[in-house]
Amino acid sequence: MLTFALSKGRLADKIFKMLRDLNIVDINVDEEDRRLVLTKGDFRFFLAKPSDVPTFVDMGVADIGVVGKDTLLEENRDITEILDLGFGKCRMCVCAPKENGDSYKLKSNVVVATKYPNIAKAYFDSVHQNSTIIKLHGSVELGPIVGLSDVIVDIVESGRTLRENGLEDVTTIHDISARLVVNNASLKTKYEDILNIVSKFESELRK
Ligand code: PRP
Repeated sequence: MLTFALSKGRLADKIFKMLRDLNIVDINVDEEDRRLVLTKGDFRFFLAKPSDVPTFVDMGVADIGVVGKDTLLEENRDITEILDLGFGKCRMCVCAPKENGDSYKLKSNVVVATKYPNIAKAYFDSVHQNSTIIKLHGSVELGPIVGLSDVIVDIVESGRTLRENGLEDVTTIHDISARLVVNNASLKTKYEDILNIVSKFESELRK
């Protein structure tokens, strides 16, 4: 039995489609379905909140997880990232009001609003700039608009949210995409089964 922890929604749907297309398991989940655990043949799937996927994998209740690189960086769990799935592409950026450009770099202490406090802190430490990080749970763009922060650290996908709020991305911190991650013990005990799936996914991604 192989257990997957998947992020509910689009990411899980993509994985189910890949598993069907590759004839690994014939799993299909209806939009109306509210079940959080699905079992089919030798496979079990947990449908979790994205930020909890690394926890399920680290704690060993799931062998494999699929989650965005943003969540992996923020959660920083002791798990093995094994494959870049190439979808869910976006960027983690420092963004500022358009009129300010990159002037935040000159601040002796930059105030940052973000849903990703660990990523933001690690970034500003790495460039040796003092920072005060304010954690928000969403609508992070409000930070500079209402005078809470100088900048935000956030995901930029199409750039539309920034544009419509008078902000721009100034510095890209990380390129983000969906990743396949594996529990370290499962990688040893279920090596053959995991390798089999990873190599099929790899060949599908090369097409
Ligand atoms: C995310 C992110 C940005 C937006 C970026 O927010 O935090 O706000 O999407 O996408 P875009 O570049 O295509 O406009 P989400 O939709 O998760 O909502 P939230 O702000 O409430 O977290």
